[in-house]
Amino acid sequence: MVVEDKLEAVIKAMETVFESVPYGIDHTMKVLDNARQIITEEKTDRLQYGVIIELAAVLHDIGAIEAQKKHGSMEGHFQELEGVPIAAEIMQEQNYDQSIVDRVCYIVGNHHTPENIDGIDFQILWEADLIENMQVMDCIQNEATLKQFVADNFKTQTGKNLALNRYR
Ligand SMILES: [Fe+2]
Repeated sequence: MVVEDKLEAVIKAMETVFESVPYGIDHTMKVLDNARQIITEEKTDRLQYGVIIELAAVLHDIGAIEAQKKHGSMEGHFQELEGVPIAAEIMQEQNYDQSIVDRVCYIVGNHHTPENIDGIDFQILWEADLIENMQVMDCIQNEATLKQFVADNFKTQTGKNLALNRYR
């Protein structure tokens, strides 16, 4: 299967998991869109990172429903914990290389733990997700806190611009 079809199949699987929670699908697709903008504008090495970042975007919150079911909570740690096996299974169904599965699972399993960010692929997923999550955070209440938050949490210039332009 060609690369785009495999990603489409992963998106379909994600939509099935979030069937009862359309917000999850909507949020995930916005994060994917942000990630693609950052990849393009930062001229990120697509060959090395493109597939990993797109998969991480589509699968990052995949544990949310199971976390709620098993632990009665969507708290970050439970999402990370429950997300990894579900993400792995979805990618293995599409025959992604084990090295890709492992890297995406690391990102999914740590995506609420910024101190574990260890590469540009993870950083871009973090920024793409944060741009969406900022809409419910106090940091957007005034220009000074917004600027400070962006400086503290974003590394790519494209991520910074997207966050500032959205909330300024
Ligand atoms: Fe998210």
